[in-house]
Amino acid sequence: MARPIALITGASSGIGLEFARLLAANRYDLVLVARRQDRLTGLAEELKTKYGTTVWAHDLDLTLSETPQRVMQEIEKAGLTIEVLINDAGLGHAGTFATMSWEEISEQVNLNIVALTKLTRLVLPGMLAQKKGKILNVGSIAGFLPGPGMAVYYATKAFVISLSEALWQETRGTGVTVTCLCPGLTRSEFHTVAHMKSGKLGWMTADGVAKIGFDAMVKGKRLVSAGGVNTLVSWGTRFVPRRLLLLIATVRRQ
Ligand SMILES: NC(=O)c1ccc[n+]([C@@H]2O[C@H](COP(=O)([O-])OP(=O)(O)OC[C@H]3O[C@@H](n4cnc5c(N)ncnc54)[C@H](OP(=O)(O)O)[C@@H]3O)[C@@H](O)[C@H]2O)c1
Repeated sequence: MARPIALITGASSGIGLEFARLLAANRYDLVLVARRQDRLTGLAEELKTKYGTTVWAHDLDLTLSETPQRVMQEIEKAGLTIEVLINDAGLGHAGTFATMSWEEISEQVNLNIVALTKLTRLVLPGMLAQKKGKILNVGSIAGFLPGPGMAVYYATKAFVISLSEALWQETRGTGVTVTCLCPGLTRSEFHTVAHMKSGKLGWMTADGVAKIGFDAMVKGKRLVSAGGVNTLVSWGTRFVPRRLLLLIATVRRQ
């Protein structure tokens, strides 16, 4: 029997890579998107050997406005139907807004917001027509508060949470679900890319976070924070005055 197909962005490292391993272990074939072809090829070989997974790997830059359509064209050309979409690709840059280059600002907006929104818009109608499908958007606990020192990144993740929750409601009863996963500090390449310090306490592993997201997606949950502490943070931010949150959340560069 043909396996269901999952489309995963950001599968070349960190949480996205672990999503690919999890979905493959659960007998999905995969369409993977990220820029580093060597990483995707290595992962495809690993999953083929371990689980017999077929992988269609696309080394594409999702900050380019045409990429989501290109991915969908490739999927249509291969005659595939997407049953799961995991919008994981994302990045942050640390630094004050006034000193950050426009390239760094637009890279975050184009990847974390525009590509995620476009892919969701391109995939969702097909899922609704099939009355079947699951979308998982990777937000962050950063989306629950403003982030001085990393203002754009925090704001992009607030968008992801808001969009995903609204779509969860819009799709209720259709057979399609939209879930938002909000990780906290997770070991991956994220902090190297962002030029941020990585500490020891309170950090989760990428595979642990991916498992929490996968389980929530399977259950069709609206929102899940990764782990007890992060769940507490996402709840706590509702009751802490915004002025105090601004002090707590100030991000320091390396
Ligand atoms: N790590 C954390 O502490 C943390 C906390 C909260 C939320 N998150 C979120 O979790 C998600 C995954 O991050 P991670 O921690 O796993 O970081 P990561 O290890 O840096 O992975 C990021 C992934 O996004 C891909 N990506 C980056 N720019 C891209 C582009 N222009 N086009 C296509 N793909 C691109 C990267 O692949 P290429 O470089 O090969 O393109 C990589 O596969 C992100 O949305 C992040 O915001 C992370």
